[in-house]
Amino acid sequence: MRMVDLIQKKREGGALSQEEIEFLISEFVHGKIPDYQMSAFLMAVFFRHMTEKETFYLTRAMEHSGQVMDLSAIEGIKVDKHSTGGVGDKTTIILAPMVAACGVKVAKLSGRGLGHTGGTIDKLEAIPGFRTSLAFEEWVRQVNEIGLAVAGGNEQLVPADKKIYALRDVTATVEEISLIASSIMSKKLASGADAFVLDVKVGSGAFMKTLTDAQALAALMVKIATLSGKKACAFLTNMDLPLGKSVGNALEIIECVETLRGQGPRDLTDICLSLATKMVEYGADISEREAKNRVMERFRNGDALKKFKEFVQAQGGDTAFIDDPLKLIGTVNVRPFYALKGGWIKRMETEEIGKAAMILGAGRETKESRIDPAVGLVLEKKTGDAVKANEVLGSLYYREEKRMEEALGILTRAIKFDTEPAEAPKLILDVVA
Ligand code: URA
Repeated sequence: MRMVDLIQKKREGGALSQEEIEFLISEFVHGKIPDYQMSAFLMAVFFRHMTEKETFYLTRAMEHSGQVMDLSAIEGIKVDKHSTGGVGDKTTIILAPMVAACGVKVAKLSGRGLGHTGGTIDKLEAIPGFRTSLAFEEWVRQVNEIGLAVAGGNEQLVPADKKIYALRDVTATVEEISLIASSIMSKKLASGADAFVLDVKVGSGAFMKTLTDAQALAALMVKIATLSGKKACAFLTNMDLPLGKSVGNALEIIECVETLRGQGPRDLTDICLSLATKMVEYGADISEREAKNRVMERFRNGDALKKFKEFVQAQGGDTAFIDDPLKLIGTVNVRPFYALKGGWIKRMETEEIGKAAMILGAGRETKESRIDPAVGLVLEKKTGDAVKANEVLGSLYYREEKRMEEALGILTRAIKFDTEPAEAPKLILDVVA
């Protein structure tokens, strides 16, 4: 088999066989196919796409390109959740303890943020002492002991995705749905869970800007999971506005604690309850109604918050900061920002809001950038809200004046007003099962 023939076949719109796909992944990972040939192949896929079958073969070949987690030492059905990434998306930190408090085990690997999107691992590291680097045995032991553990990605997992993603990033081939689905699902399958709840973000702060593209991606990921013998469903959720009020690592932990106390923003609370219900339905193998009742009970009676504290303690975090989360902010500067005129908020350019937080130091411009856990922004008003002239729209938490001025300029342009009442956007746009 020769790579040039496979590139040509795809360039002409042909469908590759399982054997051909396994060949190209294995040879590429072992350094026998050069980057320039893989780049040409990726561009051919970008224009010609892949069939559902090809995407499935690609996913499985990528999944087996490195270590595959064996979670058999953890009893019961293991359920994982994945979000395609957004602004203010802190759901894992809230729903993992909710689900564990319901008796369903959560063995989670999470990532760091890049660019305008945040990452769960960076957020958890805003808690002093919290360790996100756990050896496999420790991760499994903790799940068996307290029902949940969240660790950073394992370097040996899916090396094919690391190499291919790096090429996609610099060859303008990221946005092909078959490549996104295989990238995400290969990592999910390799991390060993039995069932997946996918949160596909849609809108100005997400990868998928339209509902149609998000539906196609969601359906493909659910199909790949099903063909792999796993249960899966996908929620399509609105990223045309940030989730919750806070964007920034410590600020988001504060919001997580408030939400687990029952005092969080409505949109964030509702989405966590919906995703947690599906995870409990799969993990406990009970009806949706029973799962919902159990999640609501353990949320309302404080068990989910207790489980969160237990989780923070197990991973070395100082729980005094959970009892009094405002301490996480320390001595950072705070500057409110105001509405220049009255009206209704019609639209929020969410990617720009994520960029404003990144400029303050809450995110990374490059993989090497250091983040500052205390900085970020809090939005008091969001799309659909009525606003009076000079009313506070939110606050910036910052260290450097220059960065604050830049972030303020971006935010001012990102929030669009109208003189007519604007509707509050729907949160869950679709569910693909
Ligand atoms: N997230 C991934 O892991 N891979 C993609 O291709 C896109 C988003």
